[in-house]
Amino acid sequence: MTEAKRPAAKPSASSKIGFWLMVPIIGPIAAAGAGYAAWKTNWQLLLKEFFTGPGRLSRILLLLFTVLNWKNMPFAWTARIFYPIYYHHYLRRAPKLGPRALFAPVISESFVSLLETDYNIHKSNSTYFADLDVSRTHLLSYICGAGFRAVSSNLTNQIVLDPTTKQPPKGSFGIMLGSVHCSFHKEIPPYRGYEMWSRVLSFDRKWVYIVTHIVPKGLGRPTEWLDPKFKKLNRSSGKEPVKDWEKKVFATAISKYVFKLGRLTVHPAVVLGESGLLPERPGGWLVDDASPVEDLPDYDLFSSIEESEWDWQRVEQRRRAGMKYAEKFQALDQLQKMFDGGQGPIVGRFGPG
Ligand SMILES: *[C@@H]1O[C@H](CO)[C@@H](O)[C@H](O)[C@H]1NC(C)=O
Ligand SMILES: *[C@@H]1O[C@H](CO)[C@@H](O)[C@H](O)[C@H]1NC(C)=O
Ligand SMILES: *[C@@H]1O[C@H](CO)[C@@H](O)[C@H](O)[C@H]1NC(C)=O
Repeated sequence: MTEAKRPAAKPSASSKIGFWLMVPIIGPIAAAGAGYAAWKTNWQLLLKEFFTGPGRLSRILLLLFTVLNWKNMPFAWTARIFYPIYYHHYLRRAPKLGPRALFAPVISESFVSLLETDYNIHKSNSTYFADLDVSRTHLLSYICGAGFRAVSSNLTNQIVLDPTTKQPPKGSFGIMLGSVHCSFHKEIPPYRGYEMWSRVLSFDRKWVYIVTHIVPKGLGRPTEWLDPKFKKLNRSSGKEPVKDWEKKVFATAISKYVFKLGRLTVHPAVVLGESGLLPERPGGWLVDDASPVEDLPDYDLFSSIEESEWDWQRVEQRRRAGMKYAEKFQALDQLQKMFDGGQGPIVGRFGPG
């Protein structure tokens, strides 16, 4: 039983209603409807009409355009977000992963469509953010699925209590994106495939920070997968590591999420702990960041560590190493204060924007 911290902002009710309708209700209904329609359709006739009927050239070109740019079609972003949520919560839940998975990446793939390219004929830098949404959704729905379910649907558990009333807070569970920063290192040409490697970078009393590396497809060649489903997938078998892989990263992004139960902020360690990702720590994980901790052993950050060696000190060391970057990102929230509300002179006003 743990206490949640006071909230910063009230999550929007309408967004949550949309979310909770979409995942368990509208998604399956839409899928069932589409399935029924597909079953009832005379495909042979339809296809014949489509490809041979009058005006077929424009139809075929339009179909080609839609297929080649599917990720930029209306509602494609919504489908790309809800599919991972649905998949990781309902179709296939993550097996028990343990603390080794806490800082391990999840890989998802995408490509540069024509509609994403800019005047340089490269992936437009403004389009990375939609891909990051998808990658982060895969990561959190997968590694934190158990934690989300425990905190959101198991109020009888009393995992989170309102510090003022000592009761489980009213309201539903929500995950809110606080901010995203992206550094663009290399341009990506049209129809080039790439991979997004997202992992937990760190967490503090309010935020979970996620780092995403966007890299060429097949660049990283992991030999080990924590989910047994991928055991046979040995990308390195018979292959040398890619030369100069460090210099081939396309982009690096950092994002932060906050977990809410009603209007209360849930300490990230509650969700990560309920997901089985945190080892036992004397005094628990809900310590204040500033609380003094005796010096941690000096571990090599990138060494491969056996499951049994993942004690709280290793996790704390990784968390702190990640916080060195996350702190600087976090400091940017103060930039809001640089808006003067129009007290000084304005240069002009132009359109279209
Ligand atoms: C709530 O979760 C705990 C473990 O987190 C479990 O033991 C308990 O059975 C759950 N209760 C309900 C009603 O789901
Ligand atoms: C986008 O980022 C790339 C990589 O840093 C850069 O070369 C390119 O000029 C940027 N595109 C625009 C339109 O600024
Ligand atoms: C994957 O392949 C590499 C290189 O052939 C080999 O050293 C490694 O043991 C393999 N890993 C697994 C899990 O089979």
